[in-house]
Amino acid sequence: MIEAGEGELHHGEAIRHKIATLPLLPSVVSRLLLLNPDDDNFLDEVHHLARQDPTFSFRLIQYAARTCRSSAMADKFSLRHAIARLGSRQIASIVASLSLTDAFEPQNESDRNLWLHSVEVAVAARKLVEAMPDLQLDAELIYLGALLHDIGRFVIFQAIPEGPARIDEHQWITPLALLEAESAICGTDHVTVGRQACEHWEIPAPIRDIVDNHHNYDLPVETVAERLLCTRVGVIQIADFYSVYLMNHAAGEPVEGESEEALAEREREALSHALEPILAGNGSVLPVKYRSLVARILQQQGDAIMAESKRILDALGITE
Ligand SMILES: [Fe+2]
Ligand SMILES: [Fe+2]
Repeated sequence: MIEAGEGELHHGEAIRHKIATLPLLPSVVSRLLLLNPDDDNFLDEVHHLARQDPTFSFRLIQYAARTCRSSAMADKFSLRHAIARLGSRQIASIVASLSLTDAFEPQNESDRNLWLHSVEVAVAARKLVEAMPDLQLDAELIYLGALLHDIGRFVIFQAIPEGPARIDEHQWITPLALLEAESAICGTDHVTVGRQACEHWEIPAPIRDIVDNHHNYDLPVETVAERLLCTRVGVIQIADFYSVYLMNHAAGEPVEGESEEALAEREREALSHALEPILAGNGSVLPVKYRSLVARILQQQGDAIMAESKRILDALGITE
């Protein structure tokens, strides 16, 4: 018993140290996150800010070149080309992704899986927002919130190198089971650690609130602000459960005599079942027509979500 207590104390200390020594977001990043992509002069401002930080300019050009199919073109990329190519709506999320890869460069399989999960949740959440226009959610904010939702896990992975393997020994298959496994091993969980990391990085409040509540499945919905947070969080929770579902369920094979339609129907039922806890919780703020549609949307977009996630991971230099 005493040993376990000492272990937790040691882990708590390692996590606190990791947060305190996280590299600060370059000031250009914090300032970019505050710009409004809908302003006419947004791209000029990005250009102006990026020029002040040579490392950042270099990473931006490198990212744009990696997403550019023609290698001849890649040689000629200037900062202005890169910004124009990436487009205003994506700049903030690319900036955040690049900063995250600096801070949490993947070292092993667990790190890479966590990167895959974070990007997959971000891409799936953005697809959901696009497919549910009545929600009037800001797709980029949702993308960023989703990308950062498990930031606490990145910190835990780096602070306690043996953590991921020991946590996985608990064979968690839902996000809630993951929290319990973390508490048992580390004496804290990634929501608490994520909150501290967001404070350290001075992440804007709307994103911080998402990170802070992404495992709260029963948010209050009395006020307009509460409903908005609940909708934002609900969409990301659906994407989170979807990504965990993908990790645990390989695409099924048809059983003998089963048609493609029947197989698709069977898989949709399994996915609907996996999403049930969210749709009965925060997801219940979604209009009824969407609640019955989310599994279908994710199933139809499945290949596109995986392809886009892979493209983003490649551009960030994260490969298997
Ligand atoms: Fe999480
Ligand atoms: Fe997650």
